[in-house]
Amino acid sequence: MNYKVTVFGAGFVGATTAQRIAEKEIADVTMIDIVEGLPQGKALDMMESAMLEGFDAKVTGSNNPVDVKGSDVVVVTSGVARKPGMSRDDLLKINAGIVGSVADAIKTNAPNAIVIIVSNPLDVMTYLAGVKLGFAKNKVMGMAGVLDSARFRCFLAQELGVSMRDVDAMVLGGHGDDMVPLVRYATVAGIKVEDLIPKDKLDAMVTRTRNGGIEIVNLLKTGSAYYAPSASVVEMVRAILHDEKRVLPVAAWCTGQYGVKDMFVGVPAVLGKNGVEKIIELKLTTDELSQLKKSADHVLENVKKLNL
Ligand code: LAC
Repeated sequence: MNYKVTVFGAGFVGATTAQRIAEKEIADVTMIDIVEGLPQGKALDMMESAMLEGFDAKVTGSNNPVDVKGSDVVVVTSGVARKPGMSRDDLLKINAGIVGSVADAIKTNAPNAIVIIVSNPLDVMTYLAGVKLGFAKNKVMGMAGVLDSARFRCFLAQELGVSMRDVDAMVLGGHGDDMVPLVRYATVAGIKVEDLIPKDKLDAMVTRTRNGGIEIVNLLKTGSAYYAPSASVVEMVRAILHDEKRVLPVAAWCTGQYGVKDMFVGVPAVLGKNGVEKIIELKLTTDELSQLKKSADHVLENVKKLNL
């Protein structure tokens, strides 16, 4: 393949991300994990499926962070996942140590890579990585908006009994309980969902979207979601490597957009070969803006706990 993607963390999100990238032949993939044998075993297993699935991408596993060398894109999924009763913020301290050391390894060994953070609490880990890496801010971003929007779109499509592909919707803000699903901009083949679904039902879907992660945690009991998270990462990786200029909600470095300054927060962005190439500023209502501010303030509170 022309490109190399390294995925830190060979757990469910990391390995499923590697699998999707290989099967779609987007890039060769290296999985790096501290657990001996885990990334190697999963990589070998994937390679043994290559002739059956019909892909030529190479998947390798390693325990050595130096093997991030030569990556075009790096995906960071390392860290512990939530258990029932745990909020994303509970993960803050544990995952800050892990993501911090991964960021150091990327900075030293892959200084030209574009980095996508997936570890939770997402926005805070993206901030931490942004500081540690010291890369141009367009080259660092967090994955969450694509996932949260996919969940919202799924619920809307199921409610209406229409194809998922015809439903468009965006969720902004932090990847937490106060994320901001933009109901006003949600459409089905260009028709506003507000004209198709009663308000109380839409409100319930907004709440379900906000609780989308914990709904899965409570069902699985021993871990968190990975099919939709990995699919979301892959959408971003492909947009970057193929220079697609996709408009996707991602945790991007804001410099005053939506009233948010010097922070990573979920906003609609154009993704291409330079990473976050542009932030698109939608006209939001006062209420939507204040929801976004509340969400960004919550991220900032947690960023402060890191004493960076
Ligand atoms: C979720 C976790 C990964 O939203 O944050 O599923």
